[in-house]
Amino acid sequence: MSIRTLDDLLAEGVSGRRVLVRADLNVPLDKQTGAITDDGRIRAVLPTLGALVEAGAKVVVCSHLGRPKGAPDPQFSLGPVAGRLGELLGAPVHFATDTVGDSARSTVADLADGQVALLENLRFNAGETSKDEAERGAFADQLAAFGDAYVDDAFGAVHRKHASVFDVPARLPHVAGRLVLREVEVLSKLTGDPERPYVVVLGGSKVSDKLAVIEALLPTVDRLLIGGGMCFTFLKAQGLEVGTSLLEKDMVDTCRNLLERSGGKIMLPVDVVVADAFAPDAAHDTVRVDGIPSHRLGLDVGPETVAGFSAALSQAKTIFWNGPMGVFEMPAFAAGTRGIAEAITKADAFSVVGGGDSAAAVRALGLDESSFGHISTGGGASLEYLEGKALPGIAALEN
Ligand code: 3PG
Ligand code: MG
Repeated sequence: MSIRTLDDLLAEGVSGRRVLVRADLNVPLDKQTGAITDDGRIRAVLPTLGALVEAGAKVVVCSHLGRPKGAPDPQFSLGPVAGRLGELLGAPVHFATDTVGDSARSTVADLADGQVALLENLRFNAGETSKDEAERGAFADQLAAFGDAYVDDAFGAVHRKHASVFDVPARLPHVAGRLVLREVEVLSKLTGDPERPYVVVLGGSKVSDKLAVIEALLPTVDRLLIGGGMCFTFLKAQGLEVGTSLLEKDMVDTCRNLLERSGGKIMLPVDVVVADAFAPDAAHDTVRVDGIPSHRLGLDVGPETVAGFSAALSQAKTIFWNGPMGVFEMPAFAAGTRGIAEAITKADAFSVVGGGDSAAAVRALGLDESSFGHISTGGGASLEYLEGKALPGIAALEN
């Protein structure tokens, strides 16, 4: 792999040069207040931005936030992120109220050496995510005009074939930022020759999202522990009744087939916490998986499952975890996710937490981030990396 790095760019000297940085500042926002609920992704890009500021570059940062539909939509403005980024950098961030329009042009033109600008949400422009090469290319031309060099530090978006990720690096001298390098270095340990036992924990709501990675991981892992909403489709595949729990009916046969082929590597919950409703104050109890009442739904894994999964994790030398074990945002259904997270921190293993949600869970539950080997900023991106897929953002840097 021949990717040039931020250090190569710094060695050339960037003082007075405009450096366009693609970051993934897609942070979770409070639905009511719009406040940033987890700034992990902003913090993760600070090493790259700090190095460029210190070297005297004019730093032009761009990012997406949420999934606006190719036109401005105030609820997805990066304005609040500019404020938080400025606080963390200890210097104001000049915010452009459009992405490639008049505001962006004047903001970039007015930057002094060592100053930072943030452009408004890339996805306010249809060209960013367009499947049409010409439309994407035209938008990439406009973005590329803001830089003399390009740094990709948006690991969470490297699996997207979007203008800022895929087409801009074809137009400018390009390097990988510190975050992208670290993520690839860590994940390549998992796909290479991980120290064994290698135990993977998967959760989250949808089996269909995780199918490809389960297929790819089965031959490689020693144990695959499955919790979260997706476990109910597997339990159904074992012939159990799952009440009103999340169920992907069209995936039941696929799950049965995976279980049959897994050679006993897949471990499923033995008990679950069932509730009357999907609500923080719903009445709830712990039941065995063969005793889920027909009118109740599972919202967390139970204590015996946590104990069993923890025992498997305590043996591990390498751990990858993606996806919460239950609805951890509601305290009544957070014990499973907390228990598994704690077991991972206690294991004498190299541990990687993949994904927006699991990373946010670690911080929301107040766990010590430093007791994990690595907390990835990429959910979809880390899964696609482990699937062995070519990632457009990484491929673009290799050229
Ligand atoms: C993420 O949150 O997974 C990344 O920021 C990518 O966002 P996307 O899934 O909307 O492309
Ligand atoms: Mg995503």
